[in-house]
Amino acid sequence: MKKILVTGGTGYIGSHTVVELQRKGYEVLIVDNLSNSRLDVLDNIETISGIRPAFEQLDLADGKLTAEFFQRNPSLDGVIHFAAFKAVGQSVADPLMYYRNNLYSLVNVLQGMKDNNIQNLVFSSSCTVYGQPEQLPVNEKAPIQKAWSPYGNTKQMSEEIIEFTVKSCDVKAIALRYFNPIGAHESALIGELPLGTPNNLMPFVTQTAIGIRECLSVFGGDYDTPDGTAVRDYIHVVDIAQAHVVAVERMLGDKGKSNFEIFNLGTGNGLSVLEVINSFEKTSGQKLNYKIVDRRSGDVEKVWADTTFANQELGWKALKGLDEMTLSAWKWELRLAEIKK
Ligand code: UFG
Repeated sequence: MKKILVTGGTGYIGSHTVVELQRKGYEVLIVDNLSNSRLDVLDNIETISGIRPAFEQLDLADGKLTAEFFQRNPSLDGVIHFAAFKAVGQSVADPLMYYRNNLYSLVNVLQGMKDNNIQNLVFSSSCTVYGQPEQLPVNEKAPIQKAWSPYGNTKQMSEEIIEFTVKSCDVKAIALRYFNPIGAHESALIGELPLGTPNNLMPFVTQTAIGIRECLSVFGGDYDTPDGTAVRDYIHVVDIAQAHVVAVERMLGDKGKSNFEIFNLGTGNGLSVLEVINSFEKTSGQKLNYKIVDRRSGDVEKVWADTTFANQELGWKALKGLDEMTLSAWKWELRLAEIKK
């Protein structure tokens, strides 16, 4: 049985990936500092898969603790590194916190891998590295643009750190650039757990529908898009999770074309904020209270993925449509409300 370390494995994308790894017969060890997730995610993973993943609470930004962790666990076949902060606004308010957490943890993980001859890394990157691309759909060869936030900058810097590191030792890596992951597992047992007021669209939609928030502000109605609202490539979190398993398999099977490969993870379809709202209203049967307000600073107008490279090279394709995404997000919100009762 191949053993995979999943850092940030109790988080949103991490937890879904753990389930998909287990489904494919991998043994999973999770490391998470629980700064933005909860321990009971382990119970829910176990309910879904029938297997409780091994877990260690650890701050990977701590070099000494991370080195000790890798010494205790030298026989890992690969690492999927999700553990990072991801709130754009918070990163603008406290850049050093983002650089410290997101970069130290990556450096410490790479060091642990190098020192213990663990060769395969899958890294969580983001379409934010493209900024507002000149050509759409955007492919992996598009130029990296100056970051609009420290969060985005940590993703760019992380890719560069990995690129130079793989040239210097036996570590190989795949970076996956996520577009906009939304939705939840069909069981409604795991999903996104935003702390405080959500920044992202989907949790704000579902929280508004259930009455936690009064009204959704749609940021900008005057963009150069078909209905005036901004366009993104929304992708089901389970499709994203499955791509990680495919990436791990590619590395373990030594099928990579180079020691550092980068793939877009999107559906290839650009959807507007109003299209997401319409889908949500249809699948949930809820009327959503929303109003169109000014643009949010730092937002790009439109971005969606060219998925050709991922489809052809990884042999992976996003399969779930928008209605499945919005319905699963709603079922997850309903379950959270049920637990709170
Ligand atoms: N939006 C609203 N109202 C809200 C929240 C979002 O109208 O309350 C809109 C945004 O303006 C945007 C779209 O919904 O047009 C999606 O917004 P999200 O915040 O969900 O996602 P972003 O595309 O802004 O953010 C994503 C990732 C970040 C990444 C960023 C880079 O979540 O990690 O892309 O562009 F940094």
